[in-house]
Amino acid sequence: MSYPESRPRRLRRTAALRRLVRETEIGAGRMILPMFAIHGKNDRREIPSMPGVAQLSVDLLAREGREAFEQGVAGVLLFGIPSTKDARGSEAYDPKGIIPNAVRAVKREAPELLVWTDICLCEYTDHGHCGVVRGGEVDNDATLPLLAEAAVAYAEAGADVVAPSDMMDGRVGAIRSALDAAGFAHVPIVSYAVKYASSFYGPFREAAGSAPQFGDRRAYQMDPANAEEALRETALDLEEGADAVMVKPAVHYLDVIRRVKEQFAVPVAAYHVSGEYAMLKAAAAAGWIDEKRAVAETLLAIRRAGAEILVTYYAKEASRILKEVEW
Ligand code: PBG
Repeated sequence: MSYPESRPRRLRRTAALRRLVRETEIGAGRMILPMFAIHGKNDRREIPSMPGVAQLSVDLLAREGREAFEQGVAGVLLFGIPSTKDARGSEAYDPKGIIPNAVRAVKREAPELLVWTDICLCEYTDHGHCGVVRGGEVDNDATLPLLAEAAVAYAEAGADVVAPSDMMDGRVGAIRSALDAAGFAHVPIVSYAVKYASSFYGPFREAAGSAPQFGDRRAYQMDPANAEEALRETALDLEEGADAVMVKPAVHYLDVIRRVKEQFAVPVAAYHVSGEYAMLKAAAAAGWIDEKRAVAETLLAIRRAGAEILVTYYAKEASRILKEVEW
């Protein structure tokens, strides 16, 4: 049948009909809120390029985590800003470091809120690279035991999920064996299997103070031109024991999310990153877009592409926005 018998507009005529045939639903229960932990007390430092996001001392962070939980947000993803940085990123795997402290505080305040911990050295190294540097290059194999040590320290503190974002080869396997050996066989790994060398991490590096002091990350993060490579990376991480995988950034890589989802029957997370957040905030502040509708549409697109988990700085706001926006 074709026009005039067939008229797709019939099912779009009223909000009730549109709701009835809607294919994709999103809600805060599928969202993870990234947060930045700092040492100290009652300290909140706004991040200028990410309006609404702040570095928070552990006490304030735990309180905000509880609020997020009360609004239906599934979990938080913790990043730490250490008191001192060094060549080997020591505070990343210090059991008394910023992340173990933050994990314990959030778990006390909101035991049912999922606590994910990012695993990477870049916030903790004085050179800002994601691993230890030897001869001007990031030394893959020398970095693995440090990442594994960090994972164990976070699991000991009570992390529900560990999420390595460093992009070293073999890190999922190294982390899995270390967790298992330490009695944490039950702690899942959500690996950033597909992480591109993206310009959209700029505001995050301001927030985490983690910009590389020389060179860039293209020798370990992926080339934005490649999609098949994403499938190879995913296959390797799953073989090494990843329980779910992440694609990052999200909006410019919807095709990659879809391909990973179609090829592998595992949960897929997508990270709507700092630059993607900052662009929406900036355009909204200028009055150039309707923020609520643009946010709902963006998060919906990521979900429609195939991600069941959305990591987004909008998680808390989204719980409210999604109730207010009518399509
Ligand atoms: C750490 C890490 C980064 C992000 C998440 N984990 C920065 C980077 O790789 O430079 C970016 C997150 C964002 O932009 O929101 N390696």
